[in-house]
Amino acid sequence: MEGYGDICAQFYDLDKPYAPALALEWYSEALGAHLGAGRDAGVLEPMCGSGRFLVDLLRRGFRVDGADPSQPMLQRCRDKVAAAGTLPYQPRLFEQSMQALDTPGGYAAAFIPSGSFCLLHDPADAPAGLTRLHDQLEKGALLLVEFELPHSEINWPGEATRIATRGGTQIRLVSRVTYDFAAQLETYHNVYELKQSGKVVGTEDEVIHLRCYAPDEMRSELEACGFGDISIEHLDFGWVARARA
Ligand SMILES: C[S@@+](CC[C@H](N)C(=O)[O-])C[C@H]1O[C@@H](n2cnc3c(N)ncnc32)[C@H](O)[C@@H]1O
Repeated sequence: MEGYGDICAQFYDLDKPYAPALALEWYSEALGAHLGAGRDAGVLEPMCGSGRFLVDLLRRGFRVDGADPSQPMLQRCRDKVAAAGTLPYQPRLFEQSMQALDTPGGYAAAFIPSGSFCLLHDPADAPAGLTRLHDQLEKGALLLVEFELPHSEINWPGEATRIATRGGTQIRLVSRVTYDFAAQLETYHNVYELKQSGKVVGTEDEVIHLRCYAPDEMRSELEACGFGDISIEHLDFGWVARARA
């Protein structure tokens, strides 16, 4: 796994503390429609990160477990679960990549929001991850995967700076982005600088790759890993593939 170290996880939580409202509502409705009123079957979020979707869905009565290979991101998720107080279900959180998923299994649904799936950029990683995920699901389980489309032109600046602040903590992120049209690969060279009370106390560098998928490529990836009944939806917040295990 690349990236998602300690300062990155802190930045993520300051910059994106909550799930985008439109997406959260859509996932909640889609999962609810599949599970029925009881919502008592298990749901898996295999790249759950800091848990911004997971915790809100727990509050709504879903029994969601999470997995993520980044210890700092998973710790943020644990902290969010603890801060949420009494929840109807206490999630199991697995420190595992998609390619190494090994949960008790039997989930009735799984979802991967925000295009995180595209982080499985190596051609071997997506099938390995989807196959492991398929193994964790019961037959007929619903899978929802958001993905990014390939770009036909680049309309973002090559370099951008963002700053996130809370109290005496400030994190500056400088991102240099490149795109390989042939490989449909976005590459982010990120440099984080953490300041406490105006003094630099840490830096972190990471390189993150995102593989973009045309709808037919996404369909083929899913089919090759045993998923069926596949449909692709263009929603207000992005592209989502819907499939059954
Ligand atoms: C941008 S975060 C988004 C998390 C969540 N989907 C959200 O919207 O808040 C992406 C997460 O994917 C995780 N990740 C990266 N590579 C992964 C892999 N191979 N398997 C599972 N998770 C991975 C990272 O650790 C990170 O927490």
